[in-house]
Amino acid sequence: MSTKPTISFSALTAPAGGVLAVLAGEGGSLAASVPQPVATAIARGAGISKFKGKSLASLDLLAPADSELDRVLAVGIKGEKPYGEEDWLKVGGSIAGKTKGAETITIWCEGPDGALGPDEAAAIAAGIVLRAYNFDTYKSKKPKKGAEEEEASKDVAAAVTLAVADPDAARAAYALHEAVVEGVVLARDLVNEPANVLGPVEFATRIEALSAVGVEVEILDEKQMAALKMDALLGVAQGSPRPGRMAIMRWNGGKDGEAPVAFVGKGVVFDTGGISIKPAASMDEMKGDMGGAAAVTGLMRALAGRKAKVNVVGIVGLVENSVDGLAQRPGDIVTAMSGTTIEVLNTDAEGRLVLADALWYCQDRFKPKFMVNLATLTGAIIVALGSHHAGLFSNDDDLSEKLHAAGKATGEKVWRLPLGPEYDKMIEGKFADIKNIGNGRAAGSITAAQFLQRFVNDVPWAHLDIAGTAMGSPANEYNQSWASGFGVRLLNQLVATSYETA
Ligand code: BES
Ligand code: ZN
Ligand code: ZN
Repeated sequence: MSTKPTISFSALTAPAGGVLAVLAGEGGSLAASVPQPVATAIARGAGISKFKGKSLASLDLLAPADSELDRVLAVGIKGEKPYGEEDWLKVGGSIAGKTKGAETITIWCEGPDGALGPDEAAAIAAGIVLRAYNFDTYKSKKPKKGAEEEEASKDVAAAVTLAVADPDAARAAYALHEAVVEGVVLARDLVNEPANVLGPVEFATRIEALSAVGVEVEILDEKQMAALKMDALLGVAQGSPRPGRMAIMRWNGGKDGEAPVAFVGKGVVFDTGGISIKPAASMDEMKGDMGGAAAVTGLMRALAGRKAKVNVVGIVGLVENSVDGLAQRPGDIVTAMSGTTIEVLNTDAEGRLVLADALWYCQDRFKPKFMVNLATLTGAIIVALGSHHAGLFSNDDDLSEKLHAAGKATGEKVWRLPLGPEYDKMIEGKFADIKNIGNGRAAGSITAAQFLQRFVNDVPWAHLDIAGTAMGSPANEYNQSWASGFGVRLLNQLVATSYETA
């Protein structure tokens, strides 16, 4: 990623230079503590503009002549509802976006209704760092500080100070947010990385690096997976000269012997469709078909980084769905680890084949409290929900409600769709137990979910179809990147609010 701004916290004292950003409420009102010349300048500016303190509206002014500041920015925080975690991320992201080219920014974390709490100030800081993310690894010309104005102005400020009531408390809160931000950044990096660089083996190597933050990592190679009879996953991998892998990550921050919570991800490093090959248009986007695996990896990074008090397992199936003379054919029949036989009628419906073995292995070995899997599974979910909600499918109402609530808080929203015996019937096989597609285009995301449910063995489970949200979603205040890192903040929130021991 591009340079990450340095975040620091200070008391509420006026900075000696740079940009000062302040928070404005109803009618542009400010905290009484805002330095007087700044408050006067904003009042004047508001008087001759439409600035009324509306959420994320802004007023950008040259600093008053008698101050040491360069610029003053007022950002509105007058929302319709009380601000939640995502709203503060947006405030941070929007300040970062509006102060590009500045060397330093100071954010005055007190609004007209009082000082922000440590967690709120920390979320603003997180929003700034997420906004600054830019995948420029392969750009040979990078804008440099001090270069031409135009070039340099693309960058978010290098140093950001949050002026807060209690700097120590805000610093401690930020340490937790920072771990989550690092998880999101890792997920974005993995999804943005092209498939020639990130094959299954390279992905597994990046996962192994998580041992530095205390995650235990095990990698299964094809021989080990064959011994476990994971022929559904291996059938997908067989068309690529780059062998498949399964990575098992464990973070044991909870009580000894307590059942873990489990997250499982689809990691198709590139999806050509196989012999049922995809059309050429937009096929490049299929480098992101490992978005589920990236989210699970980023989540493990986040949970370990903030030393979450919970036992967690993360499992990802890593394969390339490619085409060669040995590739799986339409009509092939494979036996999954569970013993279920599968007719592969479309080699492009490969994600479910990978997850079939990953889910079965997960519940069989770890007996988790629940399993949540993430997958860029179907184009049909984009038709249904676009890019603003992930599809949620579950056999458990309680888990669904918790995911829904976590989605609302973090802005990584999910929308539940049904499962049921009528849909399950649509995947009944002619020559084998089940087939890997439904009937034509009808209910394509649901029949995919029904397929997965065949491999969860009644463990409480939820499937998130993130084909529309993991990549290519519109840029927003805190994400300007193709890959969003969707799922890391959502599942971190789920774990933090419902599964960590006090
Ligand atoms: N990886 C794709 C789904 C996808 C599509 C993800 C667009 C992101 C953006 C998946 O493997 C796939 O190809 N699914 C097929 C299933 C069909 C053959 C039943 C699809 O959605 O068309
Ligand atoms: Zn596919
Ligand atoms: Zn796919």
